Amino acid sequence: MRKPSVVVTARWPLAVEQVLQSEFEVTLNESDRPFTADDMRSALASADALCPTVIDALPAEILGDARGRCRLLANFGVGFNHIDVAHATRLGIAVSNTPGVLTDCTADLALLLMLSIARRAGEGERQVRSSQWRGWRPTHLLGQSLAGKTLGIIGMGRIGQAVAKRAGLGFGMRVLYHSRSVVSVPGVDIERLDLDDLLARADFVSLHCPSNPQTHHLLNSESLGKMKKEAYLINTARGDVVDELALVEALRNGVIAGAGLDVYEKEPQIQAGLIDLENVVLLPHLGSASVETRTAMGMCVVNNLRAFFQGKPLPDPVVVRLTNR
Ligand code: DGY
Repeated sequence: MRKPSVVVTARWPLAVEQVLQSEFEVTLNESDRPFTADDMRSALASADALCPTVIDALPAEILGDARGRCRLLANFGVGFNHIDVAHATRLGIAVSNTPGVLTDCTADLALLLMLSIARRAGEGERQVRSSQWRGWRPTHLLGQSLAGKTLGIIGMGRIGQAVAKRAGLGFGMRVLYHSRSVVSVPGVDIERLDLDDLLARADFVSLHCPSNPQTHHLLNSESLGKMKKEAYLINTARGDVVDELALVEALRNGVIAGAGLDVYEKEPQIQAGLIDLENVVLLPHLGSASVETRTAMGMCVVNNLRAFFQGKPLPDPVVVRLTNR
C-alpha cells in the first residue's frame, strides 16, 4: 500500500525525522531554508499532509481552494495563529498542534526572563564581554529579588499555570491572574482579577494568552500606563499581544522598569529602538527550545499523522467555530 506523503517545512530533531522516514513518504527540508509561499502552495497541491511551524504563514490566499491534495496540516507547535484554521476547515483540511509537551519548557523560559531582567543578567553579561567590569562592589548592578513580589499572569492555560507553580512554590511570589476561566494551582494561592487590577498590582506581568483579535495589542500605551513604574513585562506568548512601538516608548520613558521578550510582532525583525535599551532582555523565540521538548513536539506531530492516516480521531485537533460568511 502507498505510504501517505508528508512535507516537512523545516529541519526537525534527527530522531523524529528518522521516524517520519520509516513511516511516511516524507520530504524533509535538509537545507532548513524557510518555505516560500510558492513552496507551501506546491506542498498543499501534492502532499497528503503538510507539517508547518510557527514561521509558516498559511492564510486563505495560500491555502487556496479545495483542489489541492493536502488533507492535514500537522503543525509543529502549539500556537496556530499563523494558520487560517477556519478556512482550512471549510476546505476540509484538518489541523492539529502539539499542546502539553512544551508547557514546562516555556514556563521555565518565562522564569528565566523574569530573573534575567530583574537581576540585570543581560547588562552584567554585556559588561563582562566588553571588559567593562571593574570588580565586585556593594552597589554594582543591583536588581530586584523575586521573593515576596507579585506576579500577574495574563492567560491561565497550561503554561500560565506552570509559571504560577514555579513562581509561587519555587520563588515565594504572590500570584494574580486574569483569565476567562477560574483555575486552581495545587499548593499555590492564586487570585483572579480583572485586567486593570492585575496591571495595577503586579510587579511582573507575564503573558500566556493566545494571539487572536481580542488579544492583539492587549498591552499598548494605555495598558502599559496602568502598570507600576517598577514593574516588568514578560512575553513568551506571541509578539502581537504587545504593541512594540508603545513598549519601546514605555521602556524609554520609565513608564515601566523593564521587559523580557522571547517573541516579537514581526519575527525575526526586532522593533527599532528595542536593541538600544539596557532595560530589556531579548531572546530569539526559545520558549520550547530544548532537545527533549522539540523531540516531544515532533513525536506529537507523528502521533497526529499516524492517527489521521489510520482513519482515527486526531489526538490534538485544532477546532474553531465556523461562522457563516
Ligand atoms: C509554539 O509552539 O507555538 C511555540 O511558540 C514554538 O515554541
